[in-house]
Amino acid sequence: MTASELPPSLIRTLPGSSYTDPQIFALEQEKIFEQLWFCAVRASDLDKPGSFRTAQVGRESVLITRSRDDSVRAFLNICRHRGARLCTEEQGEVRRNFQCPYHAWTYGPDGKLVAAPNLAGMPDVDRTTYGLVPVHVREWLGYVWVCLADEPPSFEADVIGAATQRLGDPEAIERYRTEELAVGRRIRYEVRANWKLIVENFMECYHCATIHPELTDVLPEFAGGYAAQYYVGHGAEFADDAKGFTVDGSAGVDRIPTVSEDQDRRYYAITVKPQVFVNLVPDHVIVHRMFPLAADRTVVECDWLFLKDVVEAGRDVSRSVELFHRVNVQDFEACERCQPAMDSRAYRSGGVLVPSEHHIGAFHAWVTGRLGD
Ligand code: FES
Ligand SMILES: [Fe+2]
Repeated sequence: MTASELPPSLIRTLPGSSYTDPQIFALEQEKIFEQLWFCAVRASDLDKPGSFRTAQVGRESVLITRSRDDSVRAFLNICRHRGARLCTEEQGEVRRNFQCPYHAWTYGPDGKLVAAPNLAGMPDVDRTTYGLVPVHVREWLGYVWVCLADEPPSFEADVIGAATQRLGDPEAIERYRTEELAVGRRIRYEVRANWKLIVENFMECYHCATIHPELTDVLPEFAGGYAAQYYVGHGAEFADDAKGFTVDGSAGVDRIPTVSEDQDRRYYAITVKPQVFVNLVPDHVIVHRMFPLAADRTVVECDWLFLKDVVEAGRDVSRSVELFHRVNVQDFEACERCQPAMDSRAYRSGGVLVPSEHHIGAFHAWVTGRLGD
């Protein structure tokens, strides 16, 4: 049997270079992250008019801000004069306007050029034409999603559709009222691995028995290695003796009241390509946003969202947070263990996927298809 002929149980992964080659990464930035909807910030982080965040989306820095009319807007974070980066901070607040630190061109929260030295002497300079370049914005699940494409793909099909397809019911995710929940904890992980390794890892549970002892205690079916979490409509059931989705199986906090009986005591995981994971349990929602920064470097921001009352009352959510924080650390260490091997001659034509991982092949085909467009 030659290396290219595989037994039916195995299918090939992408070649190692897909995870290391800067040119492939640049193509992914262009054809994936700069074309599709990208989950950038939590809307509640923009808590008042003038609050802003900046986010790396593909190769662009995007400025996301709340305007005086309470709407959220996004712009390329680039001054229209000579191209200085307008906001260098990751977050902040402006009293009224954004002023470029170079020659002081000044933009309103709606992006319009409102002032510049000697602007009155240049009546032919249109303030909208020379305003900040706008970026498409949508809000869903309490997050601000941006799209850099001139003509964004359908948000309903690409983003909301992913959740519906996974849960089998458009109402199912809405019952967690994710947009009304509050951030109980946020942890930022600097992962020395390609973003696709992180997606692939999230899509399979073949590794759960080996590296996730706390998770398999709460979700015993995960120890079987089959990605039961990916059967349409299926949520992994809590162990009989688990009182909640916590690191020691102790009780969690107040259940989200609109979650249905059949969603109770179950865990659902959703991948929203290309950079979001949503995890649903009865008393909280965990959202991962990935920011791919280089072929071998990805920042992951993970939010643990609970009922507002729970967060405002300062209730102890540490055991809930600790469970998935450990899962994250275990997963990201596994991805970092694979990353250096992607450059090895052993991985030149890739590795293999066993049957319980075969659905990852569809993700590979999706990536390859996007790059070929
Ligand atoms: S580059 Fe911004 S004002 Fe000149
Ligand atoms: Fe995992």
